[in-house]
Amino acid sequence: MALLETEGLTKDFGGLRAVQDLALRVDEGEIVGLIGPNGSGKTTLFNLITGLHPATAGRIRFDDGRRELVGLAPHRITALGIARTFQNQRLFNHMTVLENVLVGLHCRTRSGIASILLGTRRSLEERRRAEARAGGLLSLFGDRLLPRASRPAWTLSYANRRRLEIARALAAEPRLLLLDEPAAGMNPTETRELMRDIKRIRERGVTILVIEHDMGVVRGICDRVAALDHGTKIAEGSFEEVRRSPAVLEAYLGRQAGRA
Ligand SMILES: Nc1ncnc2c1ncn2[C@@H]1O[C@H](COP(=O)(O)OP(=O)(O)OP(=O)(O)O)[C@@H](O)[C@H]1O
Ligand SMILES: [Mg+2]
Repeated sequence: MALLETEGLTKDFGGLRAVQDLALRVDEGEIVGLIGPNGSGKTTLFNLITGLHPATAGRIRFDDGRRELVGLAPHRITALGIARTFQNQRLFNHMTVLENVLVGLHCRTRSGIASILLGTRRSLEERRRAEARAGGLLSLFGDRLLPRASRPAWTLSYANRRRLEIARALAAEPRLLLLDEPAAGMNPTETRELMRDIKRIRERGVTILVIEHDMGVVRGICDRVAALDHGTKIAEGSFEEVRRSPAVLEAYLGRQAGRA
């Protein structure tokens, strides 16, 4: 079942075509990797899927073609079951670790997030339920986040902040999780742990589309890989197929040669 399917998806920024005529399919239960050199349109694709940028042309269908995402506001897309992390962290640094996850939960709670955080009587019971759920999400990361639940987010290590971003995205109860370079800046131990975490999230029934430059991660967790260059899909298949693709080799080597 195609959870996500784009067709002819195109995005122009002025004269720059960041995504061009893109057809991409993600089946339910898959972990799909999205690779490509810097500036190849990977993050722009996430911005299109989540409604942050309007598409110039094309379609984005969700849930076996039942929903058209192009034209929907971001909060509607979240409510349909798509959540993401950002390449550059966007945590609420002065809120606690737990509160950051509570913010992610708000689209699944009846009371507004303000009343939950302020603790009005009506929302007290809901806050307790929300905190229990948030605690459950923190515990996905073993003892990395849960023991730090009441600390401000800014006190967390870099890797823990990245974990918290994933926990917050999961709070929206997505069917599809978009991860934008989750391993960036992590050391090898943290990266191995992240790979286990991402696989565990998939085992909970979440489909994952992950942008990643660390090819060890892509090889280790992705069922399928698609490669972009200049906004165009230049290869798709297993990690080995994509890695051996002449177009992919040229895209990466060409850029490196250009830089050298
Ligand atoms: N809001 C924007 N306005 C104008 N141009 C943009 C905007 N966002 C992205 N671009 C341009 O679109 C192209 C694709 O950028 P994008 O961020 O999608 O690349 P990327 O594949 O995620 O790269 P990286 O690996 O460096 O994160 C780049 O040329 C970028 O400068
Ligand atoms: Mg990017």
